[in-house]
Amino acid sequence: MNRLPASFLLGGLTALAWLPAAAGRPGPDEVLTRARARRDRMTVAEKIGQMTQLEIGMISDGKDQDLRINESKLRKAVVEYGVGSILNVFETAYPVSRWHEILGRIQAAARGSRLAVPVLYGIDTIHGANYVAGATLFPQPLAMAATWDPGLMRETSRVAAAETRLAGIPWNFSPILDVGRQPLWSRLFETFGEDTRLAAAMGVAAVEGYQGEDVGSPIRVAACLKHYVGYSFPASGHDRTPALIPEVTLREHFLPPFAAAIKAGARTVMVNSGEVNGVPGHANGFLLRDVLRGELGFQGVVVSDWEDIKRLVTAHHVAATEKEATRQAILAGIDMSMVPSDYSFPDLLRQLVDEGAIPVSRLDESVDRILALKLELGLFDDALRGTESGTELGSADSRRLALRAARESITLLKNEGGLLPLPARSRVLVTGPTADSRAALNNGWSLTWQGDRESLSPTDRPTILGAIRARLGPSATRYVAGAAFDDEIDLAAAAAAARSADVAVACLGERAYAETPGNIDDLTLPEAQLRLVEALAGAKRPLVLVLVEGRPRIIRRVAGAAGAILMAYNPGLEGGQAVADVLFGDVNPSGKLPITYPRDPHALVNYDHPASETAVAQFEFGFGLSYTTFTYSDLRVPPRTARRGDGVEASVVVHNSGRRAGAEVVQLYVSALVASLTPPVKRLVRFDRVELAPGERRELRFSLGGEDFSFIGPDNRPRLEPGTFRLRVGDLAQDLTLE
Ligand code: BGC
Ligand code: BGC
Repeated sequence: MNRLPASFLLGGLTALAWLPAAAGRPGPDEVLTRARARRDRMTVAEKIGQMTQLEIGMISDGKDQDLRINESKLRKAVVEYGVGSILNVFETAYPVSRWHEILGRIQAAARGSRLAVPVLYGIDTIHGANYVAGATLFPQPLAMAATWDPGLMRETSRVAAAETRLAGIPWNFSPILDVGRQPLWSRLFETFGEDTRLAAAMGVAAVEGYQGEDVGSPIRVAACLKHYVGYSFPASGHDRTPALIPEVTLREHFLPPFAAAIKAGARTVMVNSGEVNGVPGHANGFLLRDVLRGELGFQGVVVSDWEDIKRLVTAHHVAATEKEATRQAILAGIDMSMVPSDYSFPDLLRQLVDEGAIPVSRLDESVDRILALKLELGLFDDALRGTESGTELGSADSRRLALRAARESITLLKNEGGLLPLPARSRVLVTGPTADSRAALNNGWSLTWQGDRESLSPTDRPTILGAIRARLGPSATRYVAGAAFDDEIDLAAAAAAARSADVAVACLGERAYAETPGNIDDLTLPEAQLRLVEALAGAKRPLVLVLVEGRPRIIRRVAGAAGAILMAYNPGLEGGQAVADVLFGDVNPSGKLPITYPRDPHALVNYDHPASETAVAQFEFGFGLSYTTFTYSDLRVPPRTARRGDGVEASVVVHNSGRRAGAEVVQLYVSALVASLTPPVKRLVRFDRVELAPGERRELRFSLGGEDFSFIGPDNRPRLEPGTFRLRVGDLAQDLTLE
């Protein structure tokens, strides 16, 4: 296999794993020197302790809000074993005061250990601080990607970081940089969609928002890029099942977001629970050492995923015993094991070291990285940093930001005859399983892991039904359940109610889920919901579909029956309001699909497929309508002939030719007409979100470089071939020849 510098993946940019030190703070070398000095004083057992991560259940009794720290369990973990890290909640989110008590007890125990090394607490803040009760819940990452607005992603991540650190938690297992190219996968909603450049841009923005300039600040947290790499492409569509990804494809599509976020200074990486080409992520020394460290220049902490060293035995069968699995994983490059529910890892690693199967120098590498992270986070100065930051949890400003994000994400997929926006005085039937559900708006990782306990959702923000009713009043808003997610309830009643309404709004989609429990065997929207739409269509009234879903559930059978279709994704807690704002035209929709919306169950093809791969999408990647119209003109690509390696300046004019203000996402695609490996029909190279007043025109300029015309060749290296390239923006195209 070839080794190549990170710069190749990104085209001419050098890998810089650490941001320059701001004034007064120690630089990376100084931090490492300090970490080594601390490590020098550690026993082998203490080093192994640092590499061990346990879940909160290991130091507590009870669950949910009845969880109580158990002092003797805590002492065993933090003092006897000296564990370096603890994670998670036991079922439900805690109020800040509860977190302060939990973290206070943990850090007090750590102070009583021989070297008083603070514990690094980690949490999944996936769309806001979803495990801190009362925190702001933003749209899920797939919805954020639909905004095509990295600046907004940076802002929402900044708030998520501050609200997480307020609880005393300095480490966030986010962003997910797995490129979402398998729509069946239950974690698609956690991704930034199917395009590698869009995912990279959003991922970099998330890292910047989480970590800021100084990750040790009381309002910042360390980011964790996950799940390195290839997790998101299971052939079966089920979570944690095998992927087959040729190295050229891995480099073309799956590695670049990780490379970009590492270059932006991300401090930690979590490993893929699945296997790629027969090699489990946790035993893949090539990817973890040669590529991640060698090529991408990553210097931070690599943490395993949940129980994944054990799963080398139980799921992947590459080791007969957990001891052998531990040896493989540590030698492959894991720094910290998310064990997380027993002491097998420290016990077995100790045996391996005593037997000489793992050198102490290997532990030292990992311990240095872990201690350096704790130093950088400021935990040695103040293990509870952040708890007194004064951040206002779920402030009015943060909620406004979440509302803005939800509004920007919603994507108008169909609007026949200008059915939307609805007139302010409509009589509306609201129906369907997601109409009155906050859990569906939020999806998984919301107050609980599965996010499916409706009764836990704060009721001060409306569901879709609630927001429509608040606007129209109870007499103009009719609600009939119609169908549950998988079962018919009262289709005939829904159809009858539709007949006496001006318009029916059917809110469809998915119940909340996370990870493996979200597995499905059919991407088609469940039969009961299709039958609901068919019953409503029989009423011969205008029909709007609102899709609240983490995956593009196939709607081919009913798409024609609807006059308008809104994709809401999982817009978060402000999503009910945002959907109503778009339906009634207070907000002009501007979201664009970050995924292909497939039409047929057996044609799950990404937008950047080779020409010979034929598939028709229901709605294409990048698509999304507006209540105004945008017209493109003057696509200029001078000079028509450029030399390879020269910069290419492209420009285009976009005009708001309608009567409403609106935002457009200008997307520039490149297609190689001929290449030595079959080229994709097109590839996104640049995008820009612009807001235009009615009648306003804007010229946009894009500077392209060699990497925009190159691809990963059969030797796994980027190559730039001469030839003709077609540049496309909107409905315009212009050819360019590179010599
Ligand atoms: C998930 C990770 C998550 C971890 C900790 C795992 O099951 O795959 O994404 O960060 O658990 O909750
Ligand atoms: C964690 C998940 C994990 C699961 C396993 C949850 O509490 O957050 O990440 O996969 O437990 O049961």
